Amino acid sequence: MADQTIPYKIYLTEEEMPKAWYNLRSDMKNKPAPLLNPGTGKPLTAEELSPIFCEELVAQELDDTTPFIEIPEEIRNFYKMYRPSPLVRAYCLEQKLGTPAKIYYKFEGNNTSGSHKLNSAIAQAYYAKKQGLKGVTTETGAGQWGTALSMACSYFDLDCKVFMVKVSYEQKPFRREVMRTYGASVVPSPSETTEVGKKILAEHPGTTGSLGCAISEAVEVATKNPGYRYVLGSVLNQVLLHQSVIGLETKAALDKYGIKPDIIIGCAGGGSNLGGLIAPFMGEKLRGEADYRIIAVEPASCPSFTRGTYAYDFCDTGMICPLAKMYTLGSSFIPSANHAGGLRFHGMSSTLSQLYHDGYMEATSVEQTSVFEAAEQFARVEGILPAPESSHAIRVAIDEALKCKETGEEKTIVFGLTGTGYFDLVAYQKYNDGEMTDTIPTDEDIAASIAKLPKVPEA
Ligand SMILES: Cc1ncc(COP(=O)(O)O)c(C=O)c1O
Repeated sequence: MADQTIPYKIYLTEEEMPKAWYNLRSDMKNKPAPLLNPGTGKPLTAEELSPIFCEELVAQELDDTTPFIEIPEEIRNFYKMYRPSPLVRAYCLEQKLGTPAKIYYKFEGNNTSGSHKLNSAIAQAYYAKKQGLKGVTTETGAGQWGTALSMACSYFDLDCKVFMVKVSYEQKPFRREVMRTYGASVVPSPSETTEVGKKILAEHPGTTGSLGCAISEAVEVATKNPGYRYVLGSVLNQVLLHQSVIGLETKAALDKYGIKPDIIIGCAGGGSNLGGLIAPFMGEKLRGEADYRIIAVEPASCPSFTRGTYAYDFCDTGMICPLAKMYTLGSSFIPSANHAGGLRFHGMSSTLSQLYHDGYMEATSVEQTSVFEAAEQFARVEGILPAPESSHAIRVAIDEALKCKETGEEKTIVFGLTGTGYFDLVAYQKYNDGEMTDTIPTDEDIAASIAKLPKVPEA
């Protein structure tokens, strides 16, 4: 076992927890491209966004310049129920791999919703309550975001309507029950309860749904019901802002022991945990103060960064949402029903897309059987049963540590362990029974949905 001068778990005190979120965009020379109104092709104004999102969240969405935004005291107090989250030194994994690399992971699964999603859910619910709204609508893929939002809404006594991707609704009945226990209503998407849902069902009968479909339905319900707004658990700038609490805590914990990471790894669905984890490190990189290798990991079944196109696209399948410039597989792309539901989004955060486009980070894609191999290896030595999404980051962290074993380099690797996999046992069962398969889209599949990208004049 390596010299254990660093504790297994590095915790911060309540006093050391961040008091402000860090807005990564403030340090970007090339700002992320603005959201466009699909009707006019012009950047969306605060007035146009306010029927969809809460006012303060619109302000955060559009703010590319303020470096730090204070975390309201009510949110900081809520954070204290489950934060600071531990930064764990993976001594047991290092020993098992026989690597000289030093591996750390930031564990966000230590709350009832089981993932990092609560960090933004509580902020979004707070601003909705502050604005005097009745409730919010949202989509959920794997169910983590819906669970987190239902917890946050019940805390602030807000109504919560969740459209859950049909495949997850069927595969994860227990997650649905957690949401209902917290008072949310949960509808499988696409559904017959919205105009856009009926249209998608008519065009794709028997579809298992996608995040893009569920977003369309949730936006429709929010805009048609007075006193409701739509909230989104990833992709948007405001969500990356709230998730910066992950990176700020990670950096503060590492700084306590004078540790500087060489490689930072996170899974990427819409980009919120990765954007949050890397925020302060990327800030240093952008300001020329430090350098880090930053790796986004996505599923080979939904490879937005590695095989997508950098273009304006709809964030939803029904094509009713604003246009975002991002790495995308096309909003009509419906990925195969793989087991990392939270990574099945056709697009990517426009902040991360711009950074990737400018060469500040790398991306790689991995197949789900190799992801579950890594999950199993990790669970057996580190004790935590990881979420399939998080296990994408584990896969690449292990691969990087094994490269160090070959070269003898003592690199420091930090990865985001975004959540636990207790509701993903159907997936683990498939893996244990040797029934898990990998589905990778063909170039033709991707070209077909890319051909349907909206025609937008370049900003
Ligand atoms: C546990 C977990 N990790 C990661 C993700 C990916 O989302 P994001 O890229 O926004 O962090 C999800 C999304 O549902 C998730 O539930």
